[in-house]
Amino acid sequence: MEKANLDWEKIPFSYKKTDGHLEYRFSDGKWDEGVVVKDDTISLNIAATCLHYGQECFEGLKVFEGKDRQALVFRIDENAKRLAGSARKILMEEVPEKMFIDSIYKLVKLNRRFIPPHGSGASLYIRPLLLGISPIIGVKPSTEYLYLVFSTPVGPYFPTGLKPIKLLVEESIDRAAPGGVGDVKVGGNYAAGLRATHKAKDLGYNEVLYLDAKEKKYIDESGPANFFGITKDGKYVTPDSNSILPSITNMSLRVLAEEMGLKVEKRPMRVEEIFNLKEAGCCGTAAVITPVKSITCRDKTVTYSERDEIGPVCKELYEKLTAIQLGLAEDKYGWVREIPLD
Ligand code: PLP
Ligand code: COI
Repeated sequence: MEKANLDWEKIPFSYKKTDGHLEYRFSDGKWDEGVVVKDDTISLNIAATCLHYGQECFEGLKVFEGKDRQALVFRIDENAKRLAGSARKILMEEVPEKMFIDSIYKLVKLNRRFIPPHGSGASLYIRPLLLGISPIIGVKPSTEYLYLVFSTPVGPYFPTGLKPIKLLVEESIDRAAPGGVGDVKVGGNYAAGLRATHKAKDLGYNEVLYLDAKEKKYIDESGPANFFGITKDGKYVTPDSNSILPSITNMSLRVLAEEMGLKVEKRPMRVEEIFNLKEAGCCGTAAVITPVKSITCRDKTVTYSERDEIGPVCKELYEKLTAIQLGLAEDKYGWVREIPLD
């Protein structure tokens, strides 16, 4: 099948309509078989719980084309588990792991002409989305759910790509509270952060770096990604917090960092530690590794990259991770699955 006619090297991180998506409905205590839908709009009851009370959660993962045109997906089982965990936390019906994986396999086959060519730097971004759809006006969980999954070809999340970004610690705005829902992937966390990102961008920064909401002493994460630093004595340090999303990319980088001989620490990270790092990065499916140029906090700025270039440790981590995702390096941990396209 011929690829879609797109300028693959230049596609932004934005939504593009593809050949269809899949929809599954849960009612009377069971999931249906799912259907392919060509139209990219949905119809919901005006009283649906997802619309009023934010009863929704989602995932994000990427499919890459290998050098033999195979479709490769990274750690899909982890996304399945995380979606189930998000659903449990806000009292939604879980999507069974098998249904999640089957839905993505069917979706990728359906949209195979939108998988960006190997070497283009782009990928097919998969967005599974779970919505509470019962018309209920009291604050209660739905009894009916819509699970849908769509895809869109994307380039890098930060248009800077591998060019380092500037972060702002914006203490007056919190993303998530301890004991809240910051550790699951629900839409409200992103809505809570919109004005912080807006403010940071207005001031000339690329993103926000959040502190823990209770004490403002520890680093949480960035708006769309986890945070990690490489210390001057060569450790990979990343925050442990109950109000950040457990990133699958970060989980993988910790393994790769250890392979590179770095000591890995996942622990509460005091904000002053930013002054003791030699490199820093934001990591996530969309962000991959986006190197950090500088962090501004309480009127002080620490700069890691004077020349606007990714540092050597972040570069090696980036290369190791993307080589596995693209099927170019040995997949010793079984992170990559090939999606059948015939
Ligand atoms: N943190 C937030 C708030 C995110 O939205 C994401 C993206 O999914 C991440 C971290 C990174 O998680 P992952 O590496 O699983 O994509
Ligand atoms: C992802 O990295 O997949 C996300 O969902 C982050 C989002 C802000 C684009």
